[in-house]
Amino acid sequence: MKNKILVTGGAGYIGSHTCIALHEAGYDIVVYDNLSNSSREAIERVSKLIDQPIDFVKGDIRDTDLLKQVFAEHQFFGVIHFAGLKAVGESVAKPLLYYNNNVSGTIALLEVMREADVKNLVFSSSATVYGDPESLPINEESKRSCTNPYGQSKLMVEHILEDLAATDDGWNLIPLRYFNPVGAHPSGQIGEDPNDIPNNLMPYISQVAVGKLEKLSIFGNDYSTVDGTGVRDFIHVTDLAQGHVAALNYLQKQVGRDKYSSIGFLPINLGTGKGTSVLELVTAFSEVSGQNIPYQFSARRAGDIASCYASADKAKDLLGWEATLSITEMCQDTWRWQSKNPNGYHSA
Ligand code: NAD
Ligand code: WQD
Repeated sequence: MKNKILVTGGAGYIGSHTCIALHEAGYDIVVYDNLSNSSREAIERVSKLIDQPIDFVKGDIRDTDLLKQVFAEHQFFGVIHFAGLKAVGESVAKPLLYYNNNVSGTIALLEVMREADVKNLVFSSSATVYGDPESLPINEESKRSCTNPYGQSKLMVEHILEDLAATDDGWNLIPLRYFNPVGAHPSGQIGEDPNDIPNNLMPYISQVAVGKLEKLSIFGNDYSTVDGTGVRDFIHVTDLAQGHVAALNYLQKQVGRDKYSSIGFLPINLGTGKGTSVLELVTAFSEVSGQNIPYQFSARRAGDIASCYASADKAKDLLGWEATLSITEMCQDTWRWQSKNPNGYHSA
């Protein structure tokens, strides 16, 4: 069985952690990334952690000539497709950028895959495709709807993948719907490195803890949740990385079993199944880091929902995967990364 994987966006936050997990699981990887939201330093550090050079191509997924060249040079079993832009607020301001990068980019990749007859794909989707859920926990059959261009771009790609699967042309397509990825590699060498002031909760908390930001604003304390603050399903990025390995192993097994019958479109949630409130996360981080984390309550953030957590049953049943790491471990590993690298990869 071929075990070489193309990892688009492999220099990014989730991609870099997944490269390590793939290597440990015996997969060969080629990373393809335009470094629009990441750095060579991340690649260098992954390479040190696995004690092996990374086969890295700096390129854009919309550059089909370069992609074709890469597919001609390697015999891939499949692709893990992380490459994409992910800032919700920016997507509202620059919708064309998001649709072009995330949707047109994915179409370009799929066309090259079809031409190369590589039809196994794991795609980074998001719990954002569920919008404001009608009931909890959210399972894969729950209604999908999005309001912002970032979420729409993920939903559009899912629809494209569904249509592709319906052609019955041998495609095996697994969109993994991540809940809220946090944490860092236990070495403290790689982690999340936002370019600007973080939009997401965990990097904001950790930058307050390390003294880079003064105070956290908690967006809303009047939700009908355990303490009035928003509830999310935070998942450790190394658990998430293992989820990708499990999805690939599943594809290998299915394709190996019967190469004439494809699995089509198979969406799977990657979450812990547990909800944690914003205040609970702040308290846990403060305990783990020993730092005071000043906060103030402010107005709800537009577009936010009260609660969101996964049903993680499908991943367990089909892939044999489940998250293992606790909120404490998520905070410990984030803090190790943040305190060793106060300025992210620029600390080097
Ligand atoms: P990230 O920004 O750290 O990683 C994305 C990587 O893709 C970056 O290295 C970037 O340089 C690269 N990239 C972007 N556009 C590209 C293009 N056109 N061609 C080549 N490379 C390109 O983000 P992440 O947090 O690691 O997220 C990875 C994927 O998971 C994204 O698709 C994101 O939308 C999705 N996702 C992320 C979260 C989250 O909260 N982090 C949640 C759900 C889904
Ligand atoms: C979590 C909670 C905020 C920042 C986003 C995307 C989603 C997915 C993951 C990619 C909410 C509160 C936050 C702050 C706060 N990404 N918060 N103060 O909104 O659940 O999901 O990231 O697919 O698409 O929408 O994550 O970390 O931004 O917020 O109080 O400074 O923390 O209101 O309740 P979210 P988040």
